[in-house]
Amino acid sequence: MYLGLDLGTSGLKALIVDQNGAPVATAHAQYDVSQPHPNWSEQDPDEWVKACGAVFDQLRKNHPTEFTNIRAISLSGHMHGAVVVDIYGKPIRPCILWNDMRSETEAAQLDKDPDFRAISGNIVFPGFTAPKLMWMKKHEPDLFDHVHKVLLPKDYLLYWLTNRYVTDMSDAAGSSWLDVGKRAWSETLLTASGMRIDQMPDLIEGSQIAGILNSKIAQKFGLQNDIKIIAGGADNAVAACGVGAAQEGQGFVSLGTSGVLLAAKNGYHPAPETAVHTFCHAIPERWYQMGVMLSATNSLNWLANSLNTTPEELSKLCAGPITGPSKVMFLPYLSGERTPHNDADIGGAFIGLKSDTTSSDLCQAVMEGVSFALRDCLEALKSTGTELNEVLAIGGGTKSEFWLDTLSTILGLRLALPDKGDFGAALGAARLAMIGDGADIETTLVAPTIAKRISPNTQLQSKYEAAYQRFRKLYPLIKEAS
Ligand code: XUL
Repeated sequence: MYLGLDLGTSGLKALIVDQNGAPVATAHAQYDVSQPHPNWSEQDPDEWVKACGAVFDQLRKNHPTEFTNIRAISLSGHMHGAVVVDIYGKPIRPCILWNDMRSETEAAQLDKDPDFRAISGNIVFPGFTAPKLMWMKKHEPDLFDHVHKVLLPKDYLLYWLTNRYVTDMSDAAGSSWLDVGKRAWSETLLTASGMRIDQMPDLIEGSQIAGILNSKIAQKFGLQNDIKIIAGGADNAVAACGVGAAQEGQGFVSLGTSGVLLAAKNGYHPAPETAVHTFCHAIPERWYQMGVMLSATNSLNWLANSLNTTPEELSKLCAGPITGPSKVMFLPYLSGERTPHNDADIGGAFIGLKSDTTSSDLCQAVMEGVSFALRDCLEALKSTGTELNEVLAIGGGTKSEFWLDTLSTILGLRLALPDKGDFGAALGAARLAMIGDGADIETTLVAPTIAKRISPNTQLQSKYEAAYQRFRKLYPLIKEAS
């Protein structure tokens, strides 16, 4: 048996798979995000440890045979967060998360230094790790002086499990300190942001062994003694492993809190000027590119909240076949935007409201606005030469068929929906655990059985295309007006 742990922004999912990679048991525990100031987003790393203990307890109680037969564990985690620990391995302050925008000034300052784009292959976005440490140095100098190691979120759990400071290439790639082409820490980038290489964890591939389970934890939870802990990776890279997107031409679109369009790459082809992210994959000698828009299901949640309803109830207003774009347009920039605008300040907007506009019109506009923003991501990927014909569709938003039809038509791409639920990154992590224990990469990272394929609505495509062209004109206007 193999265990995958998916450390998400709102909770930890655990999935046990058998020797053949088939899911056999799951568990889940939740935790909160705190927002002590506007634009801040933090989490207490010890809440993750508690959540991990809780899922271990659930699995031990509900699936004792599977749990006690686990041979290897691996992890997936939300990216870019800064977990800063002292020499005793204790967090010095709460983790500053990927969607925390406080270090916008520091990010812009680092991004002006041409070494960052040249070596890390990416824009230094405000959510990335390096500007967070620059912010700490400036605003919390006493705490900064005690930083012994900087860990990515899932690496703190890895440290708890193994007593070792280790990260993997895919998560390190989102720090702005990695030479993403060479898969090595860059002393140049570390020095340029006031950090030292000894403050970084050891660097291995996501499918390699990071350590052996701490015997005290094994004893406490009734696990075997010699369980291998495999490094795992960044949530998007690991989700790609979960849906078998490991080769050129394979990819996925994710309608999660943020929206992601990801394409696996066999080589390293950075294009920071397009605001496309180019990161190491969680398996050796592979990379991936992705466009990231920051508010996908988050936009729908926001609207539902504002209308005093739930996202599920709101989505029901947009059921049935699509009939053409809404007259209302929504710009989904509730948390600023990464691809293609790299603009932490831009805000969202509804355009075209009338006295007879309904909640259903607003819901449709939100689903379309998120889809248009993902089309922006697709155009950015295409401009680098990346080609996709079909992508897997994952994430909470894929429960709405209306949204999927809209998205497929706007992207002009076929969407494939996995059959047995959406195990995403938890399955990817379990698969990395299998690979770390000796399974073959190519035969393990296969595509799931497809329940359904959704094709673009060719009759309506030109109408949605015209609406997309209108959408594209709005960002510069809103920017100027705000
Ligand atoms: C990717 C990114 C998000 C987080 C959230 O660059 O910031 O997808 O990983 O899970």
